[in-house]
Amino acid sequence: MDGEPVIEERQRVLLGEVQGGRLVIGGVPAADLARQFGTPLYVMDERRIRDNCRAYTAALRAAFPRAQAVFASKALCCLATCRLAHEEGLLIDVVSAGEIHTALRAGVPADRLLLHGSNKTPDELELALRSGVGRIVVDNFYDLELLEALTARTGAVADVLLRLTPGIEPHTHRAIRTGGVDSKFGFGMVDGAAREAVARTLDVPRLRLRGIHCHIGSQVMDLEPFVLAAEAMMEFAAWMARAQRVTVEELDLGGGLGIRYLPADEPPSVEAYVSALARVVRTRAGEHGLPLPTVMVEPGRSIVGDAGVTLYTVGAVKAIPGIRAYASVDGGMYENPRPALYNARYQAVLAERLLEPATATVTIAGRCCESGDVLVWDARVPEPRPGDLLAVFSTGAYTYSMASNYNRYPRPPIVFVRDGRARVVVARETIDDLLARDIPPA
Ligand code: LLP
Repeated sequence: MDGEPVIEERQRVLLGEVQGGRLVIGGVPAADLARQFGTPLYVMDERRIRDNCRAYTAALRAAFPRAQAVFASKALCCLATCRLAHEEGLLIDVVSAGEIHTALRAGVPADRLLLHGSNKTPDELELALRSGVGRIVVDNFYDLELLEALTARTGAVADVLLRLTPGIEPHTHRAIRTGGVDSKFGFGMVDGAAREAVARTLDVPRLRLRGIHCHIGSQVMDLEPFVLAAEAMMEFAAWMARAQRVTVEELDLGGGLGIRYLPADEPPSVEAYVSALARVVRTRAGEHGLPLPTVMVEPGRSIVGDAGVTLYTVGAVKAIPGIRAYASVDGGMYENPRPALYNARYQAVLAERLLEPATATVTIAGRCCESGDVLVWDARVPEPRPGDLLAVFSTGAYTYSMASNYNRYPRPPIVFVRDGRARVVVARETIDDLLARDIPPA
């Protein structure tokens, strides 16, 4: 029946509500956002980010006497997200001078920062020491040597964690696994580097060894690898107590919990994840007679990922008979490189036509000059038309933070929505921004 809403076939949305067939996010109609701010547009539901932060804090409080959630800012680093995570009581994980300065300018006190990085420069370490970054996570012996020299020269003292590589391979994309034996990150537990790192850190007078850290990978959809990593870390803590007479005060088990990208995805809940970790830590601490450490986790994706929606305008639509239909949008791999990099999959809907049956199979292409610039292969949507508003869900993590200016496209703005109101937190890049560092030819 033409024009009749077909409720049964309406597309399930992963964020926001459907009102009269139209997508509404944080109380603001997607179409209004597109009109007011233009497309492509990163939209973030502020309440969802806060709820995600609170889920971690509540689960950690329920499971441990002392625990701390840390926001891995690399997932979406800007003033607004650093501020918000800080307001929610999270520490901020930073990996570069750029992320340090962003968090500091967002008003996060330096002692609430935790610095990571597999190849920190002397300048970054000096900045961290000078500004009083709370924890430096030592990744390798070069870090250790630089810190030894810097603290000796400046008289500064640093609280450090050691990043260990437990040799665990979660089932996730190769590029985002980090905890295996063959990894550029951390001190290997299997090859003995971790033990040597403990001994050498204890020998550096101005370094206070607070604990140990691991991070096994990202978008991990089952709990087993986290449990195995926690086991390995607790065994190591027991060795440290026995052989080196040092207590692991802080046990940072990294980030990596997966999120829902497609309606069928079933990631473990934050509660299930934290209680799985708690079982291991409590049992092993009991067995080895260790005091319970302060347990930290460092989520990035599961704080901001499902709070994001990217809005696009459909442009060229073409069908290759018998082969495939394409609908091109005004964004692409320059603002979301994840499909091209990791074969990441997303759900796309036509944000103004949610009650229409999804009768077409259409590949949503970006506008970069590469055949590989596809955002969603074979999306099921109503027959798209130029001018349609297209929404892609769960784009809050690793999109803006990994965006580029490929083909000299300006990066989209970020808008926070909440209670029916929208505010720009990162402005749209302009052509002048793009040219600002080009030196005009003589
Ligand atoms: N801690 C450390 C030391 C990390 O390296 C990472 C992520 C996290 C925490 C946060 O992990 P999350 O909770 O977000 O999974 N660009 C890739 C993901 C790279 C993850 C890098 N490290 C992607 O788009 O899938």
